[in-house]
Amino acid sequence: MDPGRHPVGLFDSGIGGLTAAYAIIQQLPQEQLFYFGDTAHLPYGPQPAEAICAYSAGITQFLLQQGCKAIVVACNTATAASLNYLRERWPDVPFIGMEPAVRPGARATRSGKVGVLATAGTFKSQRYASLMHRYAKDVELLENPCTGLVERIEAGQLDGPEMEAFLRNILEPMLAGGADTFVLGCTHYPFVQTLIEKIVGPDATVINPAPAVARQLQRVLEEKGLLSPQLPGPHRFFVSGSNGNFEALASKLLGLEVKVKAGVVW
Ligand code: DGL
Repeated sequence: MDPGRHPVGLFDSGIGGLTAAYAIIQQLPQEQLFYFGDTAHLPYGPQPAEAICAYSAGITQFLLQQGCKAIVVACNTATAASLNYLRERWPDVPFIGMEPAVRPGARATRSGKVGVLATAGTFKSQRYASLMHRYAKDVELLENPCTGLVERIEAGQLDGPEMEAFLRNILEPMLAGGADTFVLGCTHYPFVQTLIEKIVGPDATVINPAPAVARQLQRVLEEKGLLSPQLPGPHRFFVSGSNGNFEALASKLLGLEVKVKAGVVW
């Protein structure tokens, strides 16, 4: 079989990586996606890097067994904890990671202050320290680990007064501190981007890195001669825990009827 016709694997702790899947489907509609949500181990943000690295390796192995030709680590926290390890362990597999868009944020800001929303695990990582060192020398980053936001999004709370109040608590201190640019450094957060944009107002810039990741995937597949000539089959979705809200949220976001295989052990 033409290697290009194999699926692209993606994974996240839960539904977050679907925001990357959405951008990939827009950019590369001929690619078949195999998506894994590690809902049995959610959330990744507060857990030690070693645990996340072990989850990431297990899921990668599973996706490769399913025939995936490339893996998108559609989770900032997992990228920070495991991308280097995954690349070392599977040197022939193309991996595409996700990290907070500190560089685009630093370029976009006019006030010199950028709000960064990410998980505790991402903020603690070496990868984030290196991003700050390389791209944020001349700007101030106002950071918030958004404790509890991933769980709320997984529970399907995407709008309403309670979610708005929750987000205001995070964003208003950043606005008061002068931030005019906001980086969504966790793949779950674009699920509440509309509400975030409402709170920060039309003059602020909100950056979701998913379209850039989809373009990066395209570049990598092109370079390796792995682009699919046509959609070889339907997208497939796996979760390690129970289905929960996954099917409903995924179907809504992607505009497809998503059926999930639950309880997948890797
Ligand atoms: N969606 C993940 C990210 O991009 C993390 C969510 C979690 O804490 O599980 O960082």
